[in-house]
Amino acid sequence: MNKNITETIKYIGVDDLDLDLFESQYIIPNGISYNSYLIIDEKVAVMDTVDARKYDEWHTNLLAALDGRTPDYLVVQHMEPDHAGGMAAIMEEFPAMKIVASARAVQMMPQFFEECDFEGRTIAVKEGDTLSLGAHNLQFAMAPMVHWPEVMVTYDATEKVIFSADAFGKFGALSHEEDWACEARRYYFNICGKYGVPVQSLMKKLAALDVEIICPLHGPILSENLEYYIGLYDTWSRYDVESEGIFIAYASIHGGTAAVAHKLAEILREKGVKRVSVADLSRDDMAEAVEDAFRVGTLVVAAASYDSDVFPPMRDFLHHLQMKSYQRRRVGIIENGSWAPTAGRIMRGMLEQMKDIEIVEPMVTIRSRMKRSDLPALESLAEALLA
Ligand code: FEO
Repeated sequence: MNKNITETIKYIGVDDLDLDLFESQYIIPNGISYNSYLIIDEKVAVMDTVDARKYDEWHTNLLAALDGRTPDYLVVQHMEPDHAGGMAAIMEEFPAMKIVASARAVQMMPQFFEECDFEGRTIAVKEGDTLSLGAHNLQFAMAPMVHWPEVMVTYDATEKVIFSADAFGKFGALSHEEDWACEARRYYFNICGKYGVPVQSLMKKLAALDVEIICPLHGPILSENLEYYIGLYDTWSRYDVESEGIFIAYASIHGGTAAVAHKLAEILREKGVKRVSVADLSRDDMAEAVEDAFRVGTLVVAAASYDSDVFPPMRDFLHHLQMKSYQRRRVGIIENGSWAPTAGRIMRGMLEQMKDIEIVEPMVTIRSRMKRSDLPALESLAEALLA
């Protein structure tokens, strides 16, 4: 774990290994970190707090890093409770400490902390404003909708550090070492996926800065090979295809649709597609399915019909994709129905509402179970997917 980012910037964040679901919706098998930093200079600045769940542990880290000093500023880059959860308690403990945040964040504070008196405690900053701590000169850049409207990031030109708020964040506690991209991608598309345009604006601002260290609010501090992380963020926020391959997502009630999905995967592999992945939307992690859909350029959705609609796990998946601005992809459709197949029409309708989605024809209709007579249609779809 990073305790000292530099001589004068200390990590005071905490891991959360007990939370069942992040944002009450995302599984986090390896926990999550709530990152927070302390900048020690003539003036002392705390960079964000943590989720109230871990306040006591964070507070211990804070006091140890302060080593008898008193914080002059609390910089609040993001008001979401996983970061601002410790604000009220720390404001009370250090009554002379000022809160530095965007005007929008200052506006939001009473919504979360009715008990606090913010009068005379806040400094609202705007794009380009600076705050001198002594040797460190903090420069603020607004980053609205990365991931909430009040978000800002902070650049320390002295140490060439960017405090990047949720950008470059990742699921997974710092005590758990793992590959960065997998859980960063799942985090990105599910949490910031809708906001590609605002993330691109932030990327342009970052490109103009000399950055050697990225300090996000979740996940590891990045200090090497930054072009790799920045390159992935650029790809993701442009909605560009990251990897070759085809992703097949199915929603099957009694296994008939699942069998078709796996058969198509087999045909595609036989035709030389190296990376074909298949997800069971009833059982696999929805957030990972969303991530996988964005990762590749071609998706196949296969679902049973249900109540004159589509089997709900598929509706849920497509709704997730809609919400996350899924776009610029090719999508094949397989429907199943024992008496009046409706899944295909519903899926097509949902996909047609998304931007620049090319439906790959022919749509395949299965009646109850895949039969030998269905194989030519599956072959045709496979050929079209590869065209
Ligand atoms: Fe990690 Fe948008 O909060």
